[in-house]
Amino acid sequence: MRRILFAALRHPLAVFGLGLTTASALLFLMLFALDVLGLITNHYVGLVSYAALPALFVVGLLAIAVGVRRSRSGPHPEWPRIDLNQPLQRRVLWVLAVATLGNVVILSMGTYGGVQYMETDAFCGQVCHTVMQPQFTAHLRGPHARIECVACHIGPGAASFIGAKVSGSRRLLSVATGRYHRPIRQPRGQGAATRETCERCHWDGLPHGDQPTVIREYASDEVNSERVTPLRLHVGGGGERLGDTFGSHWHADPANQVEYVAIDPLAAEIPYVRVTTADGTVREYRVDGVDPDSLTGGVRRRMDCLDCHNRSAHAFAATPERAVDEALGRGAISRELPFVRREALRLLTEEFDSAEQAREEIATSMTRFYQREYATLATTRRDDVAGAVDAIQALSDRTRFSEMGVGWGTYPNHLGHTDSPGCFRCHDELHVAEDGSTISQDCELCHGFE
Ligand code: HEC
Ligand code: HEC
Ligand code: HEC
Ligand code: HEC
Ligand code: HEC
Repeated sequence: MRRILFAALRHPLAVFGLGLTTASALLFLMLFALDVLGLITNHYVGLVSYAALPALFVVGLLAIAVGVRRSRSGPHPEWPRIDLNQPLQRRVLWVLAVATLGNVVILSMGTYGGVQYMETDAFCGQVCHTVMQPQFTAHLRGPHARIECVACHIGPGAASFIGAKVSGSRRLLSVATGRYHRPIRQPRGQGAATRETCERCHWDGLPHGDQPTVIREYASDEVNSERVTPLRLHVGGGGERLGDTFGSHWHADPANQVEYVAIDPLAAEIPYVRVTTADGTVREYRVDGVDPDSLTGGVRRRMDCLDCHNRSAHAFAATPERAVDEALGRGAISRELPFVRREALRLLTEEFDSAEQAREEIATSMTRFYQREYATLATTRRDDVAGAVDAIQALSDRTRFSEMGVGWGTYPNHLGHTDSPGCFRCHDELHVAEDGSTISQDCELCHGFE
């Protein structure tokens, strides 16, 4: 027995392979046990245990196979003749069978763990650290923080899973070599999110009716003057089962089909829209002067939730003013602090070498400002100042991704029309049908002001 093993392992390659396989298997089992016990919190360890170690394990096995094959002397090495009547051979086969079984178990544990690991938000957002950090950070505090990245970025089914792994590996390579776009863009229609993704939780027929909302804006004066715009958004919805649809969710009623052609990958420019209503009426809207040939090149797409709610997973503030006004409106930054809006905007638009430096500067600058200009208030409202520092630091952390080329307004939100074209990509009175009617920009179509 021992003789056979020694003979087989004569070749240095086989010895190397045996060492590599054993070492990676032992290390893998150890990390796996620690992971199962919940003792591993560092996400990079997953990359070692579920990608590097299984790969080394397989390389080791291959090295053993090649080494054993090479170790057979002679110009025409022969395959061993198997004769199960020989006790020695039976024993060798047993050993081989047990070893193979062990290998299969380890490999399937590795693969299963690897697949699971690659589906976690931590893998998407932290292992690809800087690359996905803007989205990871925004997602963490959004309304959909509990929907995993893969739910929207990898479709259901084996084919899209494998497709995603292939393109994912390519991306991992481009991350390793630093060759990726800054900022990253996802062309419309390329993610896996569809209305079905949303309808796991939101029922498309739910009638939302009119939604009252208030937009709060502030001035950069001493008292941070407030201006309130109340809006009644006609969200609507409903559909056949619950009666007529109206409002924004009219587009999402399955009975109405709104299709469009965009001439750019991000669907920022939409020169053609076609509507088919429940009764079969078809209306086509075109922007004057658009070359019909350029339309045949574009992709025709049916409008769905993501044409309006494109930033429902990871939204970024459009401007520093919006971000600060939102924090003031929420009370995270106290309006009682004189000039707090002006100071916050100054710190959020200043350039710093790093996010860390920005945080420090925000803390020292704010405290110093109030100590210098409003000494009494700096003591009586110490908590408000500290709260404002926290809130401004948080806003700063959520927007400083200069290494990814992500800043204010990089990713426009289509749900509106004041910071980016959004609804007005179609509702601009320039999309004209044959009978002269247009896609309306009438303010009262979408919201009342009261
Ligand atoms: C609810 C669905 C959903 C979830 C969950 C989701 N995304 Fe997205 N993601 C989208 C959509 C839709 C777009 C396209 C955005 C657009 O068209 O403006 C997108 C775009 C992106 C982009 C391209 C750049 C950009 O921001 O437009 C990156 C990178 C990205 N997502 C990463 C992530 C990561 C990382 C996670 C998890 C932390 C995640 N996404 C979770 C739906 C989702
Ligand atoms: C896993 C369930 C789930 C899925 C899937 C889901 N949502 Fe939500 N969504 C929620 C919950 C829960 C809330 C309420 C969050 C809150 O305000 O506390 C919400 C809130 C919202 C809101 C209003 C809140 C806001 O500030 O934006 C919109 C709009 C929305 N979802 C759109 C979508 C869209 C579009 C999709 C598909 C890309 C989607 N949701 C997928 C569970 C889900
Ligand atoms: C034409 C644009 C448009 C489309 C398409 C659209 N929505 Fe909306 N949706 C809106 C607007 C506008 C609002 C109100 C936003 C606000 O309150 O700030 C809204 C609000 C919502 C809300 C929050 C309602 C509440 O009670 O607060 C949910 C949830 C939602 N949409 C889900 C969906 C889902 C799911 C789809 C796809 C089936 C969809 N929307 C398609 C424009 C759209
Ligand atoms: C891709 C083009 C497109 C986009 C983008 C778009 N719409 Fe529309 N919208 C249409 C068309 C087309 C109609 C129907 C015009 C007609 O009557 O033929 C319509 C109709 C409407 C109506 C009237 C529905 C009814 O009959 O009661 C509302 C309200 C509306 N849109 C709101 C919005 C809002 C809010 C947004 C942005 C969040 C938006 N739309 C974005 C194409 C679009
Ligand atoms: C196609 C639908 C549509 C039309 C037409 C439309 N709006 Fe809006 N408007 C919206 C939506 C959606 C929002 C976003 C509400 C939100 O942020 O929740 C909005 C937001 C606003 C806001 C608040 C924006 C802010 O945050 O400062 C103002 C002001 C406004 N609209 C004015 C107008 C005026 C004036 C007109 C007429 C010229 C008009 N809108 C036409 C859909 C529309």
